[in-house]
Amino acid sequence: MYKIAVAGTGYVGLVAGVCFAEKGHQVTCVDIDEKKVELMKSGVSPIYEYGLEELMQKNYASTRLDYTTDYQTAYRDADAIFIGVGTPEQPDGSANLSYIATVARQIAESVEKDCLVVVKSTVPVGTNDKVEQFIQDFLINDVKVEVASNPEFLAQGSAVHDTLHAERIIIGTESKWAEELLTKIYEPFNLPIVSVNRRSAEMIKYASNDFLALKISYMNDIANLCELVGADIQDVARGMSFDERIGSKFLSAGIGFGGSCFPKDTKALEYIARQNGYELKTVKAAIDVNKEQKTILFKKASKRLITFNGLKVAVLGLTFKPGTDDLREAASLENIPLLLKQGADIYAYDPVGSPNFAKVHPEGKDGKGSITYVSNIEHALDGANVCFIFTEWGEVKAVTPETYGKLMRTPLVYDGRNIYSVKDMEDAGIEYHSIGREPTKRVLRKESKQLESIKS
Ligand code: UDX
Repeated sequence: MYKIAVAGTGYVGLVAGVCFAEKGHQVTCVDIDEKKVELMKSGVSPIYEYGLEELMQKNYASTRLDYTTDYQTAYRDADAIFIGVGTPEQPDGSANLSYIATVARQIAESVEKDCLVVVKSTVPVGTNDKVEQFIQDFLINDVKVEVASNPEFLAQGSAVHDTLHAERIIIGTESKWAEELLTKIYEPFNLPIVSVNRRSAEMIKYASNDFLALKISYMNDIANLCELVGADIQDVARGMSFDERIGSKFLSAGIGFGGSCFPKDTKALEYIARQNGYELKTVKAAIDVNKEQKTILFKKASKRLITFNGLKVAVLGLTFKPGTDDLREAASLENIPLLLKQGADIYAYDPVGSPNFAKVHPEGKDGKGSITYVSNIEHALDGANVCFIFTEWGEVKAVTPETYGKLMRTPLVYDGRNIYSVKDMEDAGIEYHSIGREPTKRVLRKESKQLESIKS
């Protein structure tokens, strides 16, 4: 059992801290936000993450886990301090390292015994060399402090599972002491460990994330071509997936990747390459394809409808993917302002994301249009002229094709996640546009009387 401190209680830090406690270590999670600390002590997670609260409550009750704003006490005699603070993207694509620098300085001023600082945050290659130097420069006591890189591969929505059952643990160290200590900390997880040097570990994180982003953008690119040549992207993906060299995961075409990692990490690696005088053409292409893909359905629908002015628009799903309330880089954030600008009256449904979205677009009149948040899908679809599906929530997938026909004024559906079979939608009389598949036939707006009779 080791004494561990974790700096930052976002997705990375909190989940890591809780999982270390679950595996028997003595963990203190540090955050500067007093209210957040109190909330966590009361057993409430500040993020929506499956299974997290349960583990927080269990480990806090067993006193293996604690939360504090008092970093000095937490860092003073820790065996290892994990840093999981954010590295937000800056306008030029580079990563903002100011949070890491602040924590590094606090560590230097607090530690009273030899300690390993482990950076989990995604940082540009070479940053951890600098963090180590920075800590050495500010160290008050005569102790050994080394920095290791230990990137995180958890996906939101399954963060706890991904941490406890990771496919690999990447350890980037520069000494036997650091390698052995980190290996021992991870021993209770019983997972494959890949031990490399610090810079390689930093690069593994970017290279992995950007490869997945590239895979998605490649499929989106091929999907757009499929539409033009009469092929079906889902059949194409299925056919490709049997080749083990390609694999079956991350082949789903859609309205582009969002979230806190892929958009940021593709831009960051492209920036790192540029800084080093190299043009990373493949990653650049992934970024470009993704940018276009985000509004592809809006562009299609704009051609079909001419204007959204005065139309009731149902939006199903706001978050960047299901299982999270996170909106970062979500397609909804790009499309909804475009719709509002044209005067659409939007009825948005999301099982958990609406409160966050309402912080950016409060309910009511917005520009020429308006936005209303509804807690049931039928309400969003009732009398709608068009429906956009942005997130493949289970609740959205459960809506039958017939429901669109029954409730909508014009059964016109733009599906950014390919959740329906084109044939089923065609059979239900829905005009259905998706990604990388042929659209169904055009349908007409129902007359009011006909609509009433259908509803009754
Ligand atoms: C990702 C990585 O999966 C994780 O390993 C890394 O540590 C952080 O970034 P996350 O951003 O939580 O995790 O979500 P993920 O499930 O990977 O999806 C990212 C985006 O890609 C979502 O917008 C999703 O809708 C999209 N996506 C994913 C596709 O469009 N098609 C796919 O086939 C898979």
